[in-house]
Amino acid sequence: MQPIVLGIETSCDETAIGIVRGRTLLANVIASSVDEHARFGGVVPEIASRAHLEAMLPSIERALKDSKIALSDIDAIAVTAGPGLVGALLVGVASASGLAQGLGRPLYGVNHLAAHVSVDYLTHEEPADPTIALLVSGGHSSLLQVDDITRSITKLGATMDDAAGEAFDKIARILDLGFPGGPAIDREAVSGSASAIDFPRGLTTSNDWATRPYDFSFSGLKTAVARYLESTPSYVRADVAASFQEAIVDVLLLKALAACKSSGIDSLVIAGGVAANSRLRAVATERCAKAGIQLRIPAPDLCTDNGAMVASLGSLMLSAGRPATQGAFDADSSLKVEQVSL
Ligand code: KG4
Ligand code: ZN
Repeated sequence: MQPIVLGIETSCDETAIGIVRGRTLLANVIASSVDEHARFGGVVPEIASRAHLEAMLPSIERALKDSKIALSDIDAIAVTAGPGLVGALLVGVASASGLAQGLGRPLYGVNHLAAHVSVDYLTHEEPADPTIALLVSGGHSSLLQVDDITRSITKLGATMDDAAGEAFDKIARILDLGFPGGPAIDREAVSGSASAIDFPRGLTTSNDWATRPYDFSFSGLKTAVARYLESTPSYVRADVAASFQEAIVDVLLLKALAACKSSGIDSLVIAGGVAANSRLRAVATERCAKAGIQLRIPAPDLCTDNGAMVASLGSLMLSAGRPATQGAFDADSSLKVEQVSL
């Protein structure tokens, strides 16, 4: 029988518990405090921490019920140790430590970003390693080379300013589409024209390709959208949303495919909240098919923050024989993507 791993994720505004048996998903419970943050236009750390405290035990109980297992059936616990909001992470780490100690089971403190990538391993027979990974979330945007998801991740490039999801959230705000902005822009763009406005693709001049081919910048795009709205009072909101989305999708995939080509790795995983974007998924499917690259994108509900991804990484660590995290440990709000676990 494959080991059962329970994963706890509290890095931002989702209290999320996932349970896997080997690489089979048994439960994926998400309690979100997003509605409590909406009127502030962004996540308020203190509100998130309190919501995690309130949601933790009911969410664990729900996940056990969904997976039809008892607490004592759990073989290991995994928890997001960082990066994220420190107060929010601490609730997860303290809960996981208590659970692991109480049950006498190993505890893996894992990296949220690696966990985003690893959730894809639940949905495919064969592990993707080595693979290029495009990680696009609300807090991070990076291109990674993953040689071994349990211990060897190399950062090829990252955003120099806003994360891709942050750009979606900011543009949604100025378009009056609410928070979180990604899903709202995704919906609005459906009725707009992606070629209506030619917004800039950041860091794609020949000099950029020569000096920083895998870095991203979205601040120029944000300014271009704001200027366009100012100078075009009769703008069509759906066209702005679709054209903005197209600019982001285009540049993300240009760079991801260039990384596949130059590394000779013909596998691409797209992960993180922005990977739920319907246009990104469609264009990626098209371009990867043309380039002969095997594309893997988790189901949309596994792209945004969840506990299954943490359980997945814990399970992969356990089956690879990686050592559990020893002793008490602190959350690390700025944990580097290269550090898969503590
Ligand atoms: O990975 P995630 O759930 O949390 C972080 O680790 O940051 O990502 C959240 C981000 C938010 O910025 C949200 O607007 C964006 O993912 N997002 C989307 C979509 N769904 C979520 N962006 C574009 N299109 C979507 N459908
Ligand atoms: Zn995330």
